[in-house]
Amino acid sequence: MTGASEWQGTVGRSWAEEWRRTDVSFSGLTPRLLQAIGAEAGETVVDIGCGAGEVSMAVARARPAATVTGVDISADLVETARGRNDLPNLSFEVADASQWRPATKPDLYVSRHGVMFFPDPPAAFAHLAAIAAPRARMVFSCFRKAAENDWAAAIAGLLPRSDGPPPTPGAPGPFAFALPDHVRRCLKGWRDVEFTPVDFRYIAGRGPDAVGEAMALFRRIGPAAAALRTLPETERDGVARRLRELVESRVDGDEVAFPAAAWLVSATSDHNDG
Ligand SMILES: C[S@@+](CC[C@H](N)C(=O)[O-])C[C@H]1O[C@@H](n2cnc3c(N)ncnc32)[C@H](O)[C@@H]1O
Repeated sequence: MTGASEWQGTVGRSWAEEWRRTDVSFSGLTPRLLQAIGAEAGETVVDIGCGAGEVSMAVARARPAATVTGVDISADLVETARGRNDLPNLSFEVADASQWRPATKPDLYVSRHGVMFFPDPPAAFAHLAAIAAPRARMVFSCFRKAAENDWAAAIAGLLPRSDGPPPTPGAPGPFAFALPDHVRRCLKGWRDVEFTPVDFRYIAGRGPDAVGEAMALFRRIGPAAAALRTLPETERDGVARRLRELVESRVDGDEVAFPAAAWLVSATSDHNDG
């Protein structure tokens, strides 16, 4: 589970420091998401859980007449996003998107993997619909099942078994929106919900030292990072060794790539009176 406090703390800080590598990791998906966003109208656009802002910047660049706001709960990520931004029609705010109130009603919400972490998703999505313009649109990406995401499944397979209870299905985290029926139940205040599956290459590392890049990413981000932070030293070495073997087995040219699977989800706000 990855909740608000993790994003406001260690996890958000790691993502803020690793934004170059996380942007590369999504590079097989981002053009597909931007294409889906590009098919939508929208003059007041909000990027939910915008992180370091790559998608916010791409949308603001593509729509110079629009006003784009990236909203994120992590102050570290917003600081990074602000540092990258030189676009006059784009700004960033530190806020919990499930409670945030905009100055102007958004007519388009976008998100790359930023909407699966609300503790109460139906309340969060009902709020987003209530503060939006009538018939606002929303387009976001999220992971499909962990079993279809080899980068996660393969890493989970090399970690020591946890003694704790199994994670609650749908609990806030990267795979919370894997199942369309669950997503439909979460999207309170939204209709015409559509799912498009996208298979892509999760690029863990790229360049002359792709293995080193992938190791650096996985040491900070994802399931191995948490284990390497918390396991006793005796077990940590074994995890790091197995992780390197896994990464080396996925070298493909100058990249380390894993099969990955996402949904592109689109919906229309049911809220007609704004
Ligand atoms: C997987 S990251 C994706 C970041 C970014 N969209 C990207 O593609 O690089 C999830 C993001 O959601 C943000 N987040 C989580 N819960 C949030 C909330 N309640 N309100 C706003 N942002 C939130 C996190 O801080 C994090 O930046």
